[in-house]
Amino acid sequence: MELNKNPRKISGMFDEIAGSYDFLNHLFTLNIDKIWRRKLVDCLISSGIKTEVIIDLASGTGDLTKELLRLNPLKIYSCDISQGMLDVQKRKISSPLLETVLAGSELLPREKESVDIVTIGFGIRNFDNPGKSLGEINRVLKKNGMLIVLEMFGNSVKSPFFFFYFGKIVPKIGKIVSGSAYAYDYLYNSVKEFKNLSEFTDLCAVSGFEHVNSVNNFRKFVYTVYYRKI
Ligand SMILES: C[S@@+](CC[C@H](N)C(=O)[O-])C[C@H]1O[C@@H](n2cnc3c(N)ncnc32)[C@H](O)[C@@H]1O
Repeated sequence: MELNKNPRKISGMFDEIAGSYDFLNHLFTLNIDKIWRRKLVDCLISSGIKTEVIIDLASGTGDLTKELLRLNPLKIYSCDISQGMLDVQKRKISSPLLETVLAGSELLPREKESVDIVTIGFGIRNFDNPGKSLGEINRVLKKNGMLIVLEMFGNSVKSPFFFFYFGKIVPKIGKIVSGSAYAYDYLYNSVKEFKNLSEFTDLCAVSGFEHVNSVNNFRKFVYTVYYRKI
């Protein structure tokens, strides 16, 4: 199945589900998604790496952005292509350290080599052109800057759990609660068709990133992966 990841289609879909996104996210993961984001930031705190300027890309309603504020950066740029998702974020978080920007992954609103960390939580799977986006992330990151990706990788395609839960239960509940006939079918298919972790790491290597560490959050399906710009 060829998924349409044109940014207008994707932003329209997220605009449509923005109001119910957080509720459904936490319901479908039984709130465990909150722990994954918190652990990501705990790991950055304990690593002691520089965290002055951060881009939270595909930041959506800001759950990861909110955690990143614990790093006490000088600035977080919270970028997303869905105004609806950013509007929810603005109602949830207010901080002088935070700037929300309607911007896509292929044109980031920062100068060359000016950013210490780029995070992407459950976003890159939706990018129309992940290779081009990784090139743009590479452009804005300083040398040795970190790219951190929290994502559902296509490793579990054959798992009966994945097929039953994400393929059957989630789309039914998602449609009833969000009112979107498409979004939660898209979720299943976008994970099914996404690269596995090793393929994704190969793509990152081509874009100038070395793999530092992978944390298996859930059943070798949800990983937090740490890359460094070389
Ligand atoms: C599943 S949500 C994740 C939101 C948030 N990071 C989280 O952890 O819950 C995916 C977000 O990616 C955004 N998105 C998709 N493609 C994008 C792109 N090319 N550039 C920037 N944001 C994008 C969508 O608008 C959506 O808000």
